[in-house]
Amino acid sequence: MEKTVKIKYINKNTLQVNEIEIDLEQNIQQINLKKTLKQFNIFPYNGKSKYLNCKGIGSCGTCAVSVLDFDGNKIYSSKDEYIGDLTKMEKIRLNFFPHTLDNSFEKSLRLSCQYKIKTDLMIIKNNGFWGNE
Ligand code: FES
Repeated sequence: MEKTVKIKYINKNTLQVNEIEIDLEQNIQQINLKKTLKQFNIFPYNGKSKYLNCKGIGSCGTCAVSVLDFDGNKIYSSKDEYIGDLTKMEKIRLNFFPHTLDNSFEKSLRLSCQYKIKTDLMIIKNNGFWGNE
């Protein structure tokens, strides 16, 4: 089964905009967002967090990005729905300083090192060291 998905990546800090297409065929329907972006030379970090991060363990929180549908609409209609979709590491890190669960939900933040791509998406890198502003 061939499945190609499109990702529009927007960095609010640098105004960088990229559109990429990836083939999920080889990847059992879902692949890691951060690793996929890296393949296209896109790094979901601001400033020094590109070097000062946990390398994908899910503990630093600097790779946070807004995950929206391809048209820029929110995926989650309620906080419960949002929390229900977070990984165990995201539940901890997106509710720990400087992240708060309210802000994380408001901005639809996910940790790109934990998020698995399943469908077309718009990814927004927000401002700030942790990408939460
Ligand atoms: S790289 Fe540290 S939480 Fe994703």
